Amino acid sequence: MNQVAHGINWREGDVVITSDREHNSNLVPWLKLAELGVELRTVKSHDDNTFDIENFENICAEVGNKLRMVSLVHVGNLDGVEIPVKTASKIAHDHGAIVHIDGAQSVPHLPVDITDIGCDLLSFSIHKMLGPTGMGVLWGKEHILSELEPICAGGGTVTDADKSGYSLKEIPSRLEGGLGHYAGISGTEAALDFLSNYDMQKFAEQEIRINNIISEGIKNLPNVEIIGPESARERGGICSILLDGIDVQNTGILLDEMDSVFVRSGLHCVNQWFNDKGIEQGSLRASAYAYNNDEDAKRFVDSFSEIIETLSR
Ligand SMILES: Cc1ncc(COP(=O)(O)O)c(C=O)c1O
Repeated sequence: MNQVAHGINWREGDVVITSDREHNSNLVPWLKLAELGVELRTVKSHDDNTFDIENFENICAEVGNKLRMVSLVHVGNLDGVEIPVKTASKIAHDHGAIVHIDGAQSVPHLPVDITDIGCDLLSFSIHKMLGPTGMGVLWGKEHILSELEPICAGGGTVTDADKSGYSLKEIPSRLEGGLGHYAGISGTEAALDFLSNYDMQKFAEQEIRINNIISEGIKNLPNVEIIGPESARERGGICSILLDGIDVQNTGILLDEMDSVFVRSGLHCVNQWFNDKGIEQGSLRASAYAYNNDEDAKRFVDSFSEIIETLSR
């Protein structure tokens, strides 16, 4: 995303649109462009965190020919809610924008068909799909990638160079400054080989089934509110929980120490959403993946219920 944000030749007054539930990775690179006179507009979601497509379309129309980029998270890491990116891409294209989709939470969890979505660029992280940290993928249409200015120059990016100048290679080499991270590339290949043996649709269904057990098991507990729509089907494998008057961090530690249940607590790098709502401590997020089963979900429900009931007394 940084390569995209810093590789485009922006004009002062250009506008970028994102949603109000973006990971900081799909927010800060655009905010950094303020120094070039690029403005960021965000689309406020519905109260249940689903995407407000009408609001989005209105903002696109309002921005008019200043609209340069629409960059949306496909599935939110905050809440598992999916944005209808195919419809959003069509609207954005009708208004002349380039469309970038953050697929970090969708590509590892469900079948994603880039052609069907119709976006121009899509990025995702390998560490979220059983691979090593520090590796990511930027897919893009050839003419858009070819026009990006490399953010990192290096040995393999040029066909020739001397003190009078340099000539850049074709993509992808021109965008890949620095010696390759070969250990990371090998780890990535192993992760992708492993995942390609599985049916992503089955992964998605398994996660929803697990999330359903979790959501149904905890939804009536005191001081507990699940972020997003009530139905687990609309939140994929994520059950992100707000706790009223109970510390999320300590609850996460108790789950771990009592029953070896690992969850994440805090802001999940989606600071903006929590800041907008004035929720300082963030949420407790249980998220399922291919290696989880129904037993794990039941263990979470039992352990979490015991902690919440005790702390609510
Ligand atoms: C939706 C989403 N976007 C972006 C990122 C950040 O990816 P990276 O750390 O590879 O930049 C994450 C989490 O890792 C994420 O969940």
